[in-house]
Amino acid sequence: MDPIIIPTQPIAGQRPGTSGLRKKVKVFEQPGYLENFVQAVFDTQPELSGGTLVVGGDGRYYNKTAIQTILRMAAANGVAHVLVGCDGILSTPAASCVIRKHRTQGGLILSASHNPGGPDADFGIKFNVGAGGPAPESVTNAIYERTRTIDRYRTLDAPDVDLQQLGRQRLDEMEIEVIDPVADYAELMETLFDFNAIHQLFNSGLFRMRFDAMHAVTGPYAVEILERRLGAEPGTVLNGEPLEDFGGGHPDPNLAHTQVLVAMTEGADALDFAAASDGDGDRNMILGKAFFVTPSDSLAVLAANAHHTPGYRNGIVGIARSMPTSQAADRVAEELGIDCYETPTGWKFFGNLLDAGRITLCGEESFGTGSDHVREKDGLWAVLFWLNLLAVRQQSVAEIVRDHWRRFGRNYYTRHDYEGVDAKAAEGLMEHLRERLPGLVGKPLGGLTVAYADDFAYQDPIDGSRAERQGIRIGLADGARIIFRLSGTGTEGATLRVYLERFEADPARQGHDTQEVMAQLISIARDIAQIESRTGRREPDVIT
Ligand code: G6P
Ligand code: ZN
Repeated sequence: MDPIIIPTQPIAGQRPGTSGLRKKVKVFEQPGYLENFVQAVFDTQPELSGGTLVVGGDGRYYNKTAIQTILRMAAANGVAHVLVGCDGILSTPAASCVIRKHRTQGGLILSASHNPGGPDADFGIKFNVGAGGPAPESVTNAIYERTRTIDRYRTLDAPDVDLQQLGRQRLDEMEIEVIDPVADYAELMETLFDFNAIHQLFNSGLFRMRFDAMHAVTGPYAVEILERRLGAEPGTVLNGEPLEDFGGGHPDPNLAHTQVLVAMTEGADALDFAAASDGDGDRNMILGKAFFVTPSDSLAVLAANAHHTPGYRNGIVGIARSMPTSQAADRVAEELGIDCYETPTGWKFFGNLLDAGRITLCGEESFGTGSDHVREKDGLWAVLFWLNLLAVRQQSVAEIVRDHWRRFGRNYYTRHDYEGVDAKAAEGLMEHLRERLPGLVGKPLGGLTVAYADDFAYQDPIDGSRAERQGIRIGLADGARIIFRLSGTGTEGATLRVYLERFEADPARQGHDTQEVMAQLISIARDIAQIESRTGRREPDVIT
């Protein structure tokens, strides 16, 4: 079959953001929109021609249509072999696992992560490189540049591929292998965690958990691993069937979007453990009995306890966290005598450190935790890690975290989000902060002295690349921090994020309400950024 060459013209705005190209479905449905982007990937990644490509997504609306388009274009662009998840399903961490395990040349992942799905909601696509992680900026820039000059794309005049049947089939010269989306991933998890110990925990009859898959991609993964392999009672997985619109919900595992689950951890009949994952399975939220574990604390606890699990028994070589993530992990690294890296927001910044063997664990305040086992953050992995700790330590979630605070101190932490802010106003607010930075150091701010104030920049220690303007950091003398950043993942207006952190070494003062402890920092942040006058908002929309 001869490829057909379709003339096209550049469509503005195809620059991948924090995590790929993410737009409304309606934008993707414009003629040529998806095709231009995909062709730009093939044009800039020549190793895909004659190579193997992984394709799959989180099952949201437009996933299947996009996959058919990609398969035809892959064949027309000379890709030799495609591994595609059955029914088009692959969670983001599972895609990373498959890319690595089968030594492929990369993958196309279809997802808009935790953003809502459906005809009027969001869709996304990103290219992951052969190492399994999101493409570095050099690659995404090249793809973007290509979208600005593109004048044709290649495809085939061929019917849809059957994605329901496991096994091999051909699309013209290209071999397509429809794979079980769970198998490789579940096998990897079995090498990292003590499945026997977790099985016994479930069998003890003394432990009850629920996992909320939020009608997103982790349903099949969680049912297979938690219920089938680990023997958790049937019904442990809630909302386990992936739906194109996530059942109308917002598949973002945080306190605001998992209220039913949170309620199950409270009261007389409270669960011992609850967790949730997002649209594409890379985020996680961890709850104990009436206890919320902040993602920053979770990273620190996992790091301090990694030796309890088979996969990390020999210790961890280093930790990395994104800049706005609390400094709790730094304290663990210090005690373990290992390096701790502070990177810009975005999982891709961990890739080089993981590839170079500088770090084993990494995490972000945005409900992402992961390790060198794949090159994406991994929601179920974090849940299994916690289950392994609970099984080995025979303590509750709250006991483990409180022990941790006693030993390392507590980094009180909260994030305040102002959503759908006028983009110009948000830019103006950040610009104003930038202008104020030079004069701040050494000055008192609401009674606390400013130790440092900068616009965070990062020089990658492996390839020397620099990322500038990654968020305003104001460090105060007692280890407290206020950070301002504009979200890189929103699709409507701008979202201002204000991250607040305060350290408390004294165990007697570690049990307070976070918002109360933060009151002073909150008011400093509002004043210095002129939040109300510039955005018209008195209060944040979401507090996590
Ligand atoms: C995505 C990325 C994360 C990042 C987050 C930040 O989820 O995968 O690595 O932390 O976006 O989102 P934001 O909206 O704060 O830019
Ligand atoms: Zn996600």
